[in-house]
Amino acid sequence: MGIGKFIWGNPADHLGQHGPDHPVSYFAPHILKSTLARFQDGFPGLVTYALKANAQAVVIENLVAAGLSTFDVASPAEIRLVRAACPGATLHYNNPVRSVAEIAFAKAHNVASYSIDSFSELVKLAAIIPPHGIEISVRLKLPIKGAAYDFGAKFGAGPEKCAALLQEVMRLGFTPSMTFHPGTQCKDPAAWETYIHAVANVARHAGVSLHRLNVGGGFPSHRNGARPDLKPIFQTIDQATKAAFAHNRPHLVCEPGRAMVAEAFTLATRIKAINDEGAVFLNDGTYGALAELPDIEANTRLTILTPQGQPVTGPSRPRLVFGPTCDSIDVLPGETLLPEAISAR
Ligand SMILES: Cc1ncc(COP(=O)(O)O)c(C=O)c1O
Repeated sequence: MGIGKFIWGNPADHLGQHGPDHPVSYFAPHILKSTLARFQDGFPGLVTYALKANAQAVVIENLVAAGLSTFDVASPAEIRLVRAACPGATLHYNNPVRSVAEIAFAKAHNVASYSIDSFSELVKLAAIIPPHGIEISVRLKLPIKGAAYDFGAKFGAGPEKCAALLQEVMRLGFTPSMTFHPGTQCKDPAAWETYIHAVANVARHAGVSLHRLNVGGGFPSHRNGARPDLKPIFQTIDQATKAAFAHNRPHLVCEPGRAMVAEAFTLATRIKAINDEGAVFLNDGTYGALAELPDIEANTRLTILTPQGQPVTGPSRPRLVFGPTCDSIDVLPGETLLPEAISAR
């Protein structure tokens, strides 16, 4: 996908005038700025951005310009990207798995906050990083529903192991914190509530007072239906933290990825063919910008335009939608409701 340097009022104007034959990703900085404001106005703690959702320089630069100064990074490459845009930014390295070289790189770039979910990774960190002033967050996982897919399948430790890890973090002289990720596109405030109470129990059981609690990631972005309201989630996080920790309340941190950035981008993809059975072939697919669609709930916020950039209206019908490659797995999940009147170019 090429990168253009033009400013357009909306994607339809550009598509109608230029009719590009390649997929185009449109960025709306004002939407990114207003989403950041939604988090900063509503979340009862420190707001950070998880770079893995979209690490383009233009995203980082716009967030920095709007006042964000703390980022969750998952690799040396992401550390470099943030340092280039904002040399003084605070970095949280919350990918719980790192090579020795990656830890040394993070240390050299003054990263002072890490997450872990295993003793082996704690030993690795402790061998390289002196504990004074360094925060280590133990990542909890629970069997909870409500998200598009389960992040606990990869990272996190159960409550008992988290308590033992917390005690070891303390014994080594690091600053003890905890974190969890309820899974991406989680619309249910109760998921955060359950996690927060479980974190408080782990800390009590371990006899450790937490410096901070990082509640993820996982906030929903507007993919279909009504725009998700983040306020009930923020209120639940605040109330649950009060109820679970009383006077020993840790500082709260959140690290949204997709929910921070998704609505600031629009993907335009062209219908390049419609076969005799009515299946549609796009010029982008699961090997490109639609990579996550098979694993996440369908995005039905679609606008179908004519080559002149006008909306296609009229009756719709469900269709199979394929990407442009020769692989049969390059297909969107289920069937997509598209107007009868679509045509290919
Ligand atoms: C540690 C961590 N934080 C934050 C995020 C961002 O999650 P989301 O995009 O669901 O907000 C992720 C996602 O992969 C993650 O692994």
